Amino acid sequence: MRSIILGENSRALPTLPSGFARLAYVDPPFNTGRVQKRARIRAVATEEKGARVGFGGRHYQVEQLASASFEDRFDDFTAFLLPRLEAALRCLTPDGSLFVHLDAREVHYVKVELDRLLGRDHFMNEIIWAYDYGARTKSRWPAKHDSILWYVLDPEKYVFDFEAMDRIPYMAPGLVTREKAERGKTPTDVWWHTIVPTNGREKTGYPTQKPLGVIERIIKVHTEPGDVVLDFFAGSGTTGEAAAKNGRGFVLIDESREACQISAERLARFEPALVGFEVLTRSVAPLFASSSAPDRSAVPEPARSIPERDLETATEPSSSQPSAPGTALKP
Ligand SMILES: C[S@@+](CC[C@H](N)C(=O)[O-])C[C@H]1O[C@@H](n2cnc3c(N)ncnc32)[C@H](O)[C@@H]1O
Repeated sequence: MRSIILGENSRALPTLPSGFARLAYVDPPFNTGRVQKRARIRAVATEEKGARVGFGGRHYQVEQLASASFEDRFDDFTAFLLPRLEAALRCLTPDGSLFVHLDAREVHYVKVELDRLLGRDHFMNEIIWAYDYGARTKSRWPAKHDSILWYVLDPEKYVFDFEAMDRIPYMAPGLVTREKAERGKTPTDVWWHTIVPTNGREKTGYPTQKPLGVIERIIKVHTEPGDVVLDFFAGSGTTGEAAAKNGRGFVLIDESREACQISAERLARFEPALVGFEVLTRSVAPLFASSSAPDRSAVPEPARSIPERDLETATEPSSSQPSAPGTALKP
């Protein structure tokens, strides 16, 4: 089962079958009070001199595209999120897990609500994803972590594949046997992992894209090959990629047409069913991402890395509903 659904999740979730997903991972908007936006540019080959010079001495002009963006402002965040989390529980298998990715602004409120909804004994971990990137304020401790809450439907029966876990290097490998040092140690609930590298292959240009490494660790440990993972705040489709790379299925929902377009392109090699939208034709040049101003390093590299794309038309308002969710959810 591999599907990308364009739609508002509170409407799409009830159309999904019961018990199809072993894991739901969600990374909702964090209620930052801002519009999450990322400037996007594309490079178009040109004969004109004075443009950027790229691979093979070719010249490129950089055009500013409409930004990928979504609203991240809620008066009552838990009132927005909780009904959606509750609706998703029906989609989980009886031994399924729910992962909710938040930050310090909202995690405490959501934890209290989820404890009420599921019971405190269903709470398993608060995973701290710590990173070390970006500006550092001088007026308080710079906030450099997110919180990921893990809940299970059944505290007696859930998936935790210890052997599937990637292991981490010892800080002082000289103090343990060579065998142990080679094997690495068990990660704790604090995960140090870089953000999505600014100019790395992984970057899609979608605001708040999460790193594959973090989501892959969750999927490998909390599902088995052949299971299906649900993400109903899917953004650029990181969960879908992490799932498919590891032999799992995925159902992704996002209300933004632009997000679905990016996911569909990113996951095209896994041939997902697209529900409520079609991938727009691409005819011109590649899309590059930068967080603010056009980035010099985004000048195209070798021609082989330039797929034909035209994402200009992918920026229409994100109001469409899925035409017929559920219909695409065949194994
Ligand atoms: C923080 S982003 C997810 C980023 C994603 N984890 C990634 O790696 O790209 C949150 C996403 O939730 C979507 N969203 C917000 N409210 C939604 C709703 N009610 N229904 C469906 N999608 C929603 C936004 O369009 C946005 O793409």
